[in-house]
Amino acid sequence: MAPWHLRDLQEDDLDQIVRLLEESRETAAEPVVTLTEAVGAIRDGMPAVVAAVGTRLVGTAVSLAAGDRAWVLRLAIDPEWRYHGIGSGLLSVLEERLAHRGVRRIGALLPAHETGEAAFLNSGYASRPDTIYFEKVLPLARAEAIILDQVGGAVPETGLWDRIAGMDAEKTLIERRLVMPLEHRDVAEHYSLEPPRAVVLFGPPGTGKTTFARAVASRLRWPFVEVFPYQLATDPHGVAGALRQLFARVDHLEQVVLFFDEAEEIASERRDPTSLAHRITNELLKLIPVFRRGDRRLLICATNAVRSLDPAFLRPGRFDYLIPIGPPDADARRAIWTRYIGPDRLAHVDLDALVRASARFTPADIEYAARTAAQTAFERHLATAERGQAAAHADAAQVTGDYLDAISSTRSSLTDEDITAFNRDLRTAARV
Ligand SMILES: Nc1ncnc2c1ncn2[C@@H]1O[C@H](COP(=O)(O)OP(=O)(O)OP(=O)(O)O)[C@@H](O)[C@H]1O
Ligand SMILES: [Mg+2]
Repeated sequence: MAPWHLRDLQEDDLDQIVRLLEESRETAAEPVVTLTEAVGAIRDGMPAVVAAVGTRLVGTAVSLAAGDRAWVLRLAIDPEWRYHGIGSGLLSVLEERLAHRGVRRIGALLPAHETGEAAFLNSGYASRPDTIYFEKVLPLARAEAIILDQVGGAVPETGLWDRIAGMDAEKTLIERRLVMPLEHRDVAEHYSLEPPRAVVLFGPPGTGKTTFARAVASRLRWPFVEVFPYQLATDPHGVAGALRQLFARVDHLEQVVLFFDEAEEIASERRDPTSLAHRITNELLKLIPVFRRGDRRLLICATNAVRSLDPAFLRPGRFDYLIPIGPPDADARRAIWTRYIGPDRLAHVDLDALVRASARFTPADIEYAARTAAQTAFERHLATAERGQAAAHADAAQVTGDYLDAISSTRSSLTDEDITAFNRDLRTAARV
């Protein structure tokens, strides 16, 4: 009996399949069908079979079928298992599956002398030396523009990074762990430092997770694609189908930051197995390994509740770093106030007082309070001008007073529990 057996491909074979397709090529010629295209066909449910020795996969054949026509997209055999008849075996099972779907004619395109040539000839396939293979790759800019449009992505404006005020610890960490290795890939490679492919940003609401994610894309000059869980829920292809389509599209982009906000909505540990979130998580768990195989792409998931995420979702093979984005300390609040007060009025403000009064504030709260104070001052200015008085510049006490009033009428979004929980997450969840 042969030590190997043949069977249909199962969902959790994908990791091994990708390895086989990548590593079992014999010639230097590029395969006509790319890895991504083959994985795409598998994900679309096209017939595919594998040869297994125990739990190890040693061969695979992947097809694409439409009507009575099919193509063997890729045939791969583990180099250690050549000359065991695996190639012919795979083709014969695959043909059976295809015949069952009504296929009558099967083709394959193979670089000359590539593994599998013998299997095709032995299985009754005729080679067609009279045929020329034509290929056209659409100009990247055009294809990219179409895809970006489909997925609603764009390269963010420049300078977002510099507009993040304060938050020095977070900025330094994100710059070192994410931006620098992605920007200087060659240097990173020299030190065998794998640039990150996927990270989680966690922290209380309004601390700047989305802001940081966009700013990273802005620094890298990469397109930023944001995924909203509720949009997936309403997609006619179903959640899993929508996610697969999204990842397949993004895969065609030269480079991309793919951003999932509110990851706890989709990857919560206490989720009901029949729920939408559960289906999204399961699909993501399958898609992340394939996403990770590409260079020049970064998946960023943001969450307020890292403690409620499924530990399987977070394990190191999936996410390289779990980076905390905490509430701003006094220095950070000072920088954020400075940024929102603006240079004209800064000299008239008692910054220390504002920093003290806004102890529980997130950047979002400060932004809001600063806008409220600006609105008050603006209205007063116009009202004064209307009464025919010279719009005298407010004195320091009044300007500071406007800001302090705005602070007391702004509800801080951070509760004691938020801060306690975040401090606990810092100790138990952070991976930097
Ligand atoms: N360091 C910062 N300097 C200036 N503004 C900031 C900073 N961080 C955040 N902001 C502003 O605060 C607001 C909230 O930030 P952001 O949406 O990034 O927070 P978040 O952590 O993603 O919040 P959520 O958890 O609610 O999604 C934004 O308007 C952003 O411009
Ligand atoms: Mg956000």
